[in-house]
Amino acid sequence: MIRIRTGIPSDAAAVTGLVFAALREHGIEPDPHGSDADVVSFGKGATLKLVAEDEGKILGMAILWDRGPDTPGAYLSKLFVAKAARGAGIGGALVEATIKAARARGHRRLSLRTRTVFGRAIALYESLGFERLPDPPSTSHSDRAYVLTLA
Ligand SMILES: CC(C)(COP(=O)(O)OP(=O)(O)OC[C@H]1O[C@@H](n2cnc3c(N)ncnc32)[C@H](O)[C@@H]1OP(=O)(O)O)[C@@H](O)C(=O)NCCC(=O)NCCS
Repeated sequence: MIRIRTGIPSDAAAVTGLVFAALREHGIEPDPHGSDADVVSFGKGATLKLVAEDEGKILGMAILWDRGPDTPGAYLSKLFVAKAARGAGIGGALVEATIKAARARGHRRLSLRTRTVFGRAIALYESLGFERLPDPPSTSHSDRAYVLTLA
């Protein structure tokens, strides 16, 4: 049975493998010392790391931060589900768990940055009620930003 649990440091290798494979699948070369350092160190300094696990196998992840670059409030990063496990509700469950955790911490907004190439993620965010923010600066690895009002 799939369960969502708090990530631990020993999950780092599994989540790094999962995320780097998904980035390459979308034509993006991982940046282990820059924008993907939070995966390699598995969210060191993050508020909450979440993984989706099925019988010991890590199938997905998400990271929650208490602040982000675009608006005041919490920030979601690195929502990823292994290719073979997509379409089964894991991504939605990870975002819902992140929303719940952000609310529990008293946040009124949850923002995120993403890329146009991540079309399924954008559909998921929009179906959950995330609204588009002005695009991030061109120096960013992302080209879209969203915010969900939690209050
Ligand atoms: C985006 C991603 C994480 C989604 O994970 P997933 O496990 O396949 O997602 P789910 O099965 O929960 O959601 C898929 C569908 O259910 C919908 N859905 C899921 N939970 C939902 C909810 N709580 N409310 C409304 N809609 C929901 C989604 O909109 C989507 O609709 P579709 O089937 O018509 O496409 C996954 O596709 C992925 O890893 N993609 C590559 C990496 C990526 O894009 N990451 C985002 C970086 S910002």
